[in-house]
Amino acid sequence: MTQSYQTIILEPPVAAVQLIRLNRPQAHNALTSLLLTELATALEAIASNDDIAAVVLTGGDKVFAAGADLKEMAALDMVGVLNDTRPAIWRRIYQFPKPLIAAVNGYALGGGCELAMHADIIIAGDSAQFGQPEINLGMIPGAGGTQRLIRAVGKSLAMKMVLSGEFISALEAKQSGLVAEVTVPEMTIERAMKLAQTIAQKPALAVRQAKDVLLKAFETDLEAGLQYERKAFTVLAGSDDRNEGINAFLEKRKPKYTGR
Ligand code: HXC
Repeated sequence: MTQSYQTIILEPPVAAVQLIRLNRPQAHNALTSLLLTELATALEAIASNDDIAAVVLTGGDKVFAAGADLKEMAALDMVGVLNDTRPAIWRRIYQFPKPLIAAVNGYALGGGCELAMHADIIIAGDSAQFGQPEINLGMIPGAGGTQRLIRAVGKSLAMKMVLSGEFISALEAKQSGLVAEVTVPEMTIERAMKLAQTIAQKPALAVRQAKDVLLKAFETDLEAGLQYERKAFTVLAGSDDRNEGINAFLEKRKPKYTGR
């Protein structure tokens, strides 16, 4: 039986790519516990579905996501935040092993910007705005917004965004490395889907190892990262697809990948 969701929409997959839309338009896709749980659950189902190789995540035309749901947030005191299960849900989203591309139009604010940064690649419409406005509410980012933002855009811009709450445009996000590409808003999802389909055609084991190793760069020093890379490189030498890829090149034919 197909699982049904209240706060996200799973479109019919196209060429092994699953498009997921955040679906709380009445609250500008504010991230409730239910929405995050449904997203994590959907991604976990996709992780073990061999028919889906990559995911595109999008929000609305004017707002990708307006952050944590402030009605839910208001109900949590210090002990409530301490015992909150949301960090574990965010971790489930982060642990999705297949490529995840965020297609962002409009505002990606607070937890919305943090959700976009959980993706491996961000494609933004030229009207997109990224911000961590928690400071205006007496808070700070709480789902990786300090740690991931500073790694993505560097110290000075991350400090400016988090301390002042000012937003950056899609163009600034592109210039700073937060975003991979900027499109006209009508093309954001289409471009993200095309890119995801390109990745979906690559040998799945190599894609998975590449994502894993690239993300390790955020967690390790260079020497440990290089060792991790070499191990993954070595593991892939035992895969059918790696041998097929090299042989097909040498025999001047198209490779036939099996995902083994
Ligand atoms: C709950 C929200 C919401 C939010 C908007 N809404 N953002 N509800 N949580 N984060 C609701 C409004 O209350 C309103 O409901 C409806 O959505 C439309 O919002 P408006 O403000 O009227 O829309 P607009 O004028 O178009 O402005 C859009 C906006 C603005 C710029 C995105 O809504 C905004 O600034 N939102 C809050 C952004 C923010 O501060 N995010 C950080 C949250 S803290 P009604 O019922 O009145 O129609 C955070 C911490 C993360 O994310 C920690 C870890 C997860």
